[in-house]
This record gives sequence, C-alpha cells and structure tokens, in this order.
Amino acid sequence: MKKISVGITGLGSYVPERVVTNDDISKLVETSDEWIVTRTGIKERRVADENVATSDLAIKAAELALEDSGLDADELDLIIVATATPDHAFPSTAALVQKNLGASKAAAFDLSVGCSGFIYGMVTGANFITSGMYKKVLVIGAETLSKIVDWTDRNTCVLFGDGAGACVLESCDESFGILASELGSDGLNGDVLILPAGGSRYPATAETVKNKLHTIKMDGKEVFKFAVRVMEKSSMRVLEEAGLTQDQLDFFIPHQANMRIVDAAMKKLQLGREKTHINMDKYGNMSAASVPVALDEAFREGKIKQGDVVLLIAFGAGLSWASIVMRWNRRDRDV
Ligand code: UT7
Repeated sequence: MKKISVGITGLGSYVPERVVTNDDISKLVETSDEWIVTRTGIKERRVADENVATSDLAIKAAELALEDSGLDADELDLIIVATATPDHAFPSTAALVQKNLGASKAAAFDLSVGCSGFIYGMVTGANFITSGMYKKVLVIGAETLSKIVDWTDRNTCVLFGDGAGACVLESCDESFGILASELGSDGLNGDVLILPAGGSRYPATAETVKNKLHTIKMDGKEVFKFAVRVMEKSSMRVLEEAGLTQDQLDFFIPHQANMRIVDAAMKKLQLGREKTHINMDKYGNMSAASVPVALDEAFREGKIKQGDVVLLIAFGAGLSWASIVMRWNRRDRDV
C-alpha cells in the first residue's frame, strides 16, 4: 500500500487587539521592563477582553486557516483543539468551534498537553489521515492564559499572553509534509507546572479561590532546565529519524517561552538567528498557540519556502514535549 504523506494546506492566526506592556505590568507587581526583557525577551503581550473566551480566538484563527486552504467548513472530517484554557470543562472547545464554523460533518475533541498541545494535535491529526480514517483535519492551538494567571505573582504574570493559531492538514505529494515526529512525557516532574484546582482533585471551593489555586503555579528554574535539555535532544532525535542532519535544517519554529531557552537550543543545534522566527517579544508565551502563530507569521513573511526542512518543537506542562520535522509542501503565499 502506498504511504500517505501529510502536509499543511492552510494556516491562520489571531491575537486579541489589547496590548499589555511590561511597563503596564510593573504597575501591578514589583518588576521592570529591563528585568522582563533581559530574562525572557518578552516586551508585551496580548490580553483578551473579559467577555472573550478561548473558542472565540480559536474560531477566528480557524476561519483564516480554512480560507487559506480553500476548504469549506463542512468539508472538515475532524477538529482538534489543543488548549490549557478551555471555555468549559465540557463540552470541549473543539465542539464549540465546530458549531460556530458550521463544520457539520466533523468529529471534534480537545487535547490537554499544555504548550506541547498543538504539535501533539498535528501528530494525532496526521495519523488519522495516514490511517485512511479521515482526509481533512483542522488543528488549533488556542489560549486565554490571562484568565488563569495570578496577576499578583511576578514569577508568572509577566510571561503569558493570549492568542490562537490553526492549520489544515491533508495528504500531500510524497516526500513532502511530515517526515518524522516525537511525542514525549515526563509525568514524574509534572508538579513543577500546574493549575492545582478546578478539577476533581480540588474542586472549586471558597477556600481554593481564596488560596488562588485556580491560577498557574510554576517552578520556572526547573521548567527552564527541562526545556533546554529536551529542545536539543528531541530536535536531534527527530532529525535523525527523518534521515537528516542539523545542517540540512532550513527553519526552526520553537515554542516561544523564553529567548534564553531558544538561544541555548539554537546554539546546541548550531543554528543562526536567521533560521528562526521569534514573536515572544510581541506576544509572550501563548502556550499551545505559540508554535502555530509563529509558523503562520514566518510563512506569511516569506521566511519558509517550498522544499524547506522545517522543525517545530515545544515543551510544557506534563511535563511534555513534542517535535515534528516536515518538508514544506506549500508554494509561497501572496501577502
Ligand atoms: O511554556 C512553558 C512555561 N514555562 C516556561 O517556559 C518557564 C521557563 N523558565 C523561565 O523562563 C525562567 O525561569 C523565568 C523567566 C520564569 C525566571 O527567570 P530566572 O532567571 O530563572 O529567574 P529566577 O526565578 O531564578 O529569579 C531570579 C530573581 C529572584 O529574586 P532573588 O531570589 O534572586 O532575590 C526572583 O524573585 O528574580 C526575581 N524575579 C523577578 N524580579 C523582577 C522573578 N520574577 C521577577 C520579575 N521581576 N517578574
């Protein structure tokens, strides 16, 4: 049986309009623009309005990805939404997207893998296509992290932002599309990045709210060490699995959490800054939305060309990581 190759046939992204700068945050907590920029590379982030939820951002990104692919929503077979900030515990955010897009034929579900979620979603979606079960899959990474940040905790509130990115996956010409992928989990260290309450372990009570257990708790140093290690190791493994070496890599789309993490990984992989697209300065860490928004921008700006070897990599809650190597199957896009 002929192997089915899977590639991206549509991309779209959306961020809320409201900009919150480092100076704005320094009015809320003891911090400074200088500290945030030198320690993270983040200058500002986007924050959704109070009445805007994750599905609202996801739908906007999805509409753009569909338009880019030339598909109608009712042609979709499956919608996967990767998010750590779903609108509700249930129904899934994917089901809300399905309803609003009018994707009447599509199955829909969410993935919860923190910042690695979009790449997990791509690998999952691609496997539905290679198995022959589905032909057209929409994968979305969308977050409103501003809703689960403790705006009095300077260790975390300076880092995160809201946004959404989406891609359409379909079969593509052989030798293009996804060449290799890796999904990983290190559950032993899961408690270094956690939103403790609101699930079945600590259902919402007056006490959990008082103790701010519905906001992100993170041991930044531990996540940092894990991230640097895994970005290098997983990149090397996935390139090797694709039969490629790092000098054959044309473009690198890393999870946009901290510029020092990206620089350390790129140094180990011997990649120059011209081989990556950075947007954490504008958007902060958008968790599952980080990789698809960066990919959409890089492609739109003409940085990725047909035939390029592109590596996507992310790490996050779980702890988790995920990487994909693909040969870019699309021609340049009119901008
Ligand atoms: O998507 C995955 C999610 N998470 C991540 O990727 C996070 C990975 N980790 C990081 O990016 C970094 O660890 C941080 C940016 C979170 C922190 O940077 P760091 O260089 O590891 O700083 P630190 O936590 O060791 O803190 C150094 C100092 C501390 O003060 P003392 O104890 O040395 O007096 C902190 O209290 O900086 C202080 N600090 C701040 N100062 C000003 C921590 N946050 C701030 C802040 N402004 N916002």
